[in-house]
Amino acid sequence: MVASSKLNHPLMRNNISRDDLDALIEYLKKDDPKLTQSSNVRYFEEEWSSWLGVKHSVFVNSGSSANLITLAVLRELHEGGEVIVPPLTWVSDVASVMQNGFKPVFADINPRTLCMDTSKILEKINSRTRAVFMTHVQGFNGLSDILLQELANRKIPLIEDVCESHGATFRSRKLGSFGWISNFSFYYAHHMTTIEGGMVCTNDDDAYQMLRMFRSHGMVRESSDSELRARYAEENPNLNPDFIFAFPAYNVRNTEIGGLLGRRQLMKLDRNNQRRRENFELFIARLDGTKFKTDFEVVGNCNYAFPVVLLEPSTERRDRLEKLLTNQNIEYRRGNAGGGNQLRQPYLKDVIKDREWENFPQAEHIHHYGWYIGNYPDLDRETIEKICVLLNSCS
Ligand SMILES: Cc1ncc(COP(=O)(O)O)c(C=O)c1O
Repeated sequence: MVASSKLNHPLMRNNISRDDLDALIEYLKKDDPKLTQSSNVRYFEEEWSSWLGVKHSVFVNSGSSANLITLAVLRELHEGGEVIVPPLTWVSDVASVMQNGFKPVFADINPRTLCMDTSKILEKINSRTRAVFMTHVQGFNGLSDILLQELANRKIPLIEDVCESHGATFRSRKLGSFGWISNFSFYYAHHMTTIEGGMVCTNDDDAYQMLRMFRSHGMVRESSDSELRARYAEENPNLNPDFIFAFPAYNVRNTEIGGLLGRRQLMKLDRNNQRRRENFELFIARLDGTKFKTDFEVVGNCNYAFPVVLLEPSTERRDRLEKLLTNQNIEYRRGNAGGGNQLRQPYLKDVIKDREWENFPQAEHIHHYGWYIGNYPDLDRETIEKICVLLNSCS
């Protein structure tokens, strides 16, 4: 076979290793192995909580489900109102807000972090604001001292979406440990994977009980609080205590396969993240700062995908760049997180004003002139150098 001379760079590679797969096979060889949510899920939740530095974690079947049940809990506390969200995020961050009866209010991003800008968030806060739903985009930190202080002063809960930023930090503390509730995704292309999967984390005991119930049909027996279970049983004497449904909820549970895989992946996460950080530093150092954005805020960054952002808004250069990448079999996604500016998406057309996206120039720039390409632990330095030479050659 003739070796390909192309760079052949996928968005993700070998995120599930051979020894992970062998461990799953060994598990399946057991006599009647338990496959639905059980002890591996519970251990994974405990191990994740201790890694992150929070009290409680609830393992679910995706990051989107984590978003959904988080906003469902907010809905139990507030009937309607506004939630501040970024224009550059994944669809489920905005959809979960709308599905739970809140109005999404957008705040433009800071081009150095790709996350919502503190000053833009503060401009949008008013008496109807029920939460700020921050997405830490592609390993960047979106928090600031001023933001945390202002939210604390005004008693506005912070929800952190850390689906793209496992292991990233603010002031040396892990993202996802600051907010009232935080969300993670373990989809294959992220820092670690359970094939599909997500985690909801919190220090709030009441929210935790609700999250457990929202994950499993709203069932009261899913709560780990015996007093809460007893109270529902007492208040509903004509119901079988095994089948009391407190909320109109969902089934977003994961499985023992996901739990087992998550526990194994977590053991490798810090080591893999160190490689990702080194890759990122090399990538940014080699990229031509006269063509591409290189002044990102790198402190605490933990990235799983290199951001490639043109400095100048040139559609011709954009098209030439995409051709170069395609010719070398380098997988890329234009618009960085989730396809660019959400305000342009059809699902929002009845919710926002006509051409509202024009009021978000920073997100617009990423929408048209930003991409990400893969950054994974077994990516070698030589390939990173070659990718940068290729990108820099784009006229
Ligand atoms: C910021 C963000 N939030 C939520 C999600 C949803 O995660 P999942 O794909 O696990 O549903 C993603 C997906 O990549 C994401 O990037």
